Amino acid sequence: MTETDKSPEVQGPNREAGNARQLDPSRREFLNKGLSATGWGLVMTLGVAGAVETVRFFSPSVVFRPPSTFEVGKLEDFASEAAPDERGIILVEPKWKDAHRFFILREPTRLSALYARCTHLGCTVNWFPGLNIFKCPCHGSQFHSDGVNFAGPAPRALDLLRISMDSEGNIIVDTSVVYPREDHSKPGAYIEI
Ligand code: FES
Repeated sequence: MTETDKSPEVQGPNREAGNARQLDPSRREFLNKGLSATGWGLVMTLGVAGAVETVRFFSPSVVFRPPSTFEVGKLEDFASEAAPDERGIILVEPKWKDAHRFFILREPTRLSALYARCTHLGCTVNWFPGLNIFKCPCHGSQFHSDGVNFAGPAPRALDLLRISMDSEGNIIVDTSVVYPREDHSKPGAYIEI
């Protein structure tokens, strides 16, 4: 006797109902479609997840920097054979004055970012290499090459901005962090060379 033979035989109305269930084409079609949709959904999900992982694997890692920070180059970009002037400054780099309002100052053992904002009423100072001084176009304040004021209404020296070096040697200036002159030796106000 087979397993099929052992099954109790369904009699009467139940037998008809069982046959109806077996033969109901709309129900079978619905189930088939549902299973098919679930299967395709799973395949699509796995496919998208795999594609995302592949892109992430081959993409270079992105380093986020706040919008107030700017890469200005590497230490070797500020090399100079010049002797320090009477204020100890070897180089004043004005390249970022117009766009970002700072100068890079190079001294024998440090690099700093000088904020070009006049300490009188906030105009942007200009660098005059022939005179070796900064001048403010608004009310005539003047500053030595290290930013210390010596003429005009400016009440104090120009400030410094935060400067740092990342793990790849890129020098970063952050214009959102300001160091007044008395803090010019604090960590972050300069890079040791
Ligand atoms: S704003 Fe610079 S001297 Fe007045």
